[in-house]
Order: sequence, then structure tokens, then C-alpha cells
Amino acid sequence: MKIAVIGTGYVGLVTGTCLAETGNDVVCVDIDSSKVEKMRQGIVPIYEPHLDVLFDRNIKAERLRFTTSLDEGLEHGDIIFLALPTPEDEDGSADLSYVLNVSEEIGKKIKQYRVIVDKSTVPVGTAEKVHAVIAQNASCDFDVVSNPEFLREGFAVDDFMKPERIVVGSSSDRATEMMRKLYSPFVRSGNPILIMDEKSAELTKYAANSFLATKITFMNEIANYCEKVGADVDKVRVGMGTDSRIGKRFLFPGIGYGGSCFPKDVKALHKAGKDQQYDFKILNAVIEVNDYQKTVLLPKMINHFKGDLTGKTIAVWGLAFKPETDDIREAPSVYMMNALLDKGAKLQVFDPEAMPNIKKRFNDTISYGDSMYEALENADALLICTEWSIFRTPDYAKLKQLLAEPVIFDGRNLYNIEDMDSEEITYISIGRKEVRP
Ligand SMILES: NC(=O)c1ccc[n+]([C@@H]2O[C@H](COP(=O)([O-])OP(=O)(O)OC[C@H]3O[C@@H](n4cnc5c(N)ncnc54)[C@H](O)[C@@H]3O)[C@@H](O)[C@H]2O)c1
Repeated sequence: MKIAVIGTGYVGLVTGTCLAETGNDVVCVDIDSSKVEKMRQGIVPIYEPHLDVLFDRNIKAERLRFTTSLDEGLEHGDIIFLALPTPEDEDGSADLSYVLNVSEEIGKKIKQYRVIVDKSTVPVGTAEKVHAVIAQNASCDFDVVSNPEFLREGFAVDDFMKPERIVVGSSSDRATEMMRKLYSPFVRSGNPILIMDEKSAELTKYAANSFLATKITFMNEIANYCEKVGADVDKVRVGMGTDSRIGKRFLFPGIGYGGSCFPKDVKALHKAGKDQQYDFKILNAVIEVNDYQKTVLLPKMINHFKGDLTGKTIAVWGLAFKPETDDIREAPSVYMMNALLDKGAKLQVFDPEAMPNIKKRFNDTISYGDSMYEALENADALLICTEWSIFRTPDYAKLKQLLAEPVIFDGRNLYNIEDMDSEEITYISIGRKEVRP
């Protein structure tokens, strides 16, 4: 099938590439000409494991190409995906201007039947709005479908190629059939394509993300309480997670959830509720707890340094909002780093993939290690913000030799309390006893 993807970011590029992989002819459109130029040169502009192989293969097979021309995309695609940003607006709602502005252009430009598929995360009622905006100018038939995306950065290719479910919100038989045909190669193992109305599809995405954010936040509160009463959250986590009604995943406590989705989606659902005079009390609490959690280690660091962080050098490992991505949007690391700089600390940071994005944000206000060990040199403490695998088994002898003081503040509970005890490292983590040799 002929496909256009408008917006070639984390979602759009994975969508376009994976649809090309199953034999479709895909044109990806992006407004960012430098990004398009890079992709034309065969460079994947984001870090996403395994994407490069599919990207190269499909460009070579001439099933995947890139343009800044919306006209070219609309001319080409029978199905037009919108994978545009829906960032948080000032009042917490989702900013639909990208989606609606492009929709207006689509209305003016399409010349024959097209299916417009909204893959961006949008509030209930957006498909209706998109339909109305296109209809203002369209001189041909078209349908609007809601098809929220559930991929996870870091696992995006796998998630797209083997989705647990595909949600399609559509009230048009013609569009639904086209979507079924497009997606059938991805669900050969029997996972469902769930067809529903547009509003339910739109809400499914917000409900799923808000539920996951709530699960993480619940464990963060349990962790904070563990510290008060001397329980060990890791033991509680395993004790809870083995109950199949609860499940093992999303129970890891830490310094809060971040990223380009959970924070804005929870806020957008909360605000959408408010607009309907519905008070999502649980989401309000989730937002509040997560705001607190992002800097939960700060008072402990201040306390350790006897009330004054001025001039202290802190090494920071892990800057991306989670491992296996270079994305730093709403990363807890950024909140911690800003809070530490405010308190007069100096920072030496390292991340396997997110350094270029952090450099754009922090410039020369901090220093950058070429390796995880270089970031430790003469630092007064190490702070861990992201659970990249390479941080899991460090060379402790080297770590102790490089740090001015063997102190670790661990926002992701990477290490065993017993190991820290025997290594004689001062170790302060989340929801577990402090180790002070
Ligand atoms: N990132 C994720 O893990 C994820 C997962 C599921 C859903 N989503 C949702 O998908 C949507 C896109 O997210 P993303 O992370 O891919 O965003 P992104 O910022 O990585 O990508 C958006 C792209 O759209 C481009 N763009 C902006 N305006 C444009 C225009 N007028 N014409 C063409 N291109 C334009 C930008 O240059 C950018 O490349 C959001 O609604 C997000 O909530 C994201």
C-alpha cells in the first residue's frame, strides 16, 4: 500500500520504517529540513536499537524515502499517518496545534479519497475535530481514523513489529478494511486488532499511560514509606509482583517517571477531565507525588554534605529519561541536575547515548565525561539517574579510586545493599536502608 507519514520523530520514523519493512511504499514527511537531509544521507537521526538495519534495508529497496514536502506526501499516500507532536500546553492540556494545522493543509490539498490516521496521542474528540477541519476545505471523500501508538522508546521496533494489540478507532467500513489489511502482517501470531469507536480509541491510550504512571507512582510512595519504617522496598516489590493479579512489571521504585509521554499524558487526561467537570483525584495525586519524587534524593544529598552543596562536584551517570534511548524530555536527571546547580554544585556527567541532547540543553554549565569512569574523577559523590546496563556492574576498585569520597546516591536501586556494605561505599538509594560504613 502507499503510505505517507507526517512527522518523522520517534513514532513517525519507526512507523514509516516498519510499514516499509512489510512491503509498503512509504514517504515520510518532516518540517525539519536538517533531519530530512540526514535521513536522505542514510543517517538515523535518533538512537533507537535495531532501527538502523530496517532503515538501511528499506531505503535501499526504495520503499522508504524522506521529504519536507507535505504535497509530495499527500500525493503519494492512500493512508496518511499523523505522527506529530502533541506537547503539554501551559494549562496542562494537549497542544493540538500541530495536528490541526497540518489537518487544515490536508483539507486544502487532497485530491482523492484518503484515510487520515491519527497516531499522535490526543484527547477524546480530536478525530472529530480533525474531520471538521479537513472538511472545511476538502473537495473529495476522506475518513479519519484514530490509531494510538503504544511503542516504547528503546524497544520501539520490536513493539511495532510484534504489537500486543493494535487499536483502531473508526466509524468507516472502508477505512477499517484498509487498516486491517495494512496491519495484518503484524498480528500473524494472533494478537488482536481492536476495532472501536474513535473516542474510545483516543481514551485507551491516555488510560493506559496514566495507569502505568500510577503503578510506578504507587511503588514510589511505598518506597518512601519503607524508608520511614525500615522495610526494604525491593523485598516488598518481589513479594507483591509474584501475585499474578499485580504482575512484576512497573513496580520498580526510583526518582520518578519522565519522558515525552507519561508526564504530559497524565496531565492532559487530568485537564480533559476538569474540562468536563470531572475531577480525576487519582491523577492529581500521581502528578503531585511524581513532582516530589524527581528530586527526592536532593535533601539526602544536602544532608550528607552537612547542609551545603556549594562547590561540591557530583558525578551523574544516566541522563536519558530511561535506558536504551537518547531522549531527555522530562528526564528526572534534568530535574536533579538543575536542582544541584541551583545549590551551587558542579556536575560531571555521562550517558551512553544522551550526551548530545544534554549538551544542547546545558552547554558549558557542566562538564562531560568521555566515559562513565572519566565522569567520576575527583567527584565528591556519584548520582545515578538512569538504569543503563553498563552501570550495573562497575569496577568498584576503580570507582573508589576515582571518587574523592566513595559515596553513591542511586535513584534506580542498581546495587545490592550487601555489596555496598562489603565494598565500604556509602550508599543511599530509594526505599532501602542507607549504607554508611
Ligand atoms: N515517543 C514515544 O515513545 C511515543 C509513544 C507513543 C505515542 N507517542 C505520541 O506520538 C506523537 C509524536 O511523538 P514523538 O515522540 O514521535 O515526537 P517527536 O517530537 O519525536 O516527532 C515529531 C516530529 O514531527 C515533526 N513536525 C512538527 N511539525 C511538523 C509539520 N508541520 N509537518 C511535518 N512534520 C512536523 C518534528 O520535526 C518531529 O520530527 C506524540 O503525540 C506522542 O505523544 C509518542
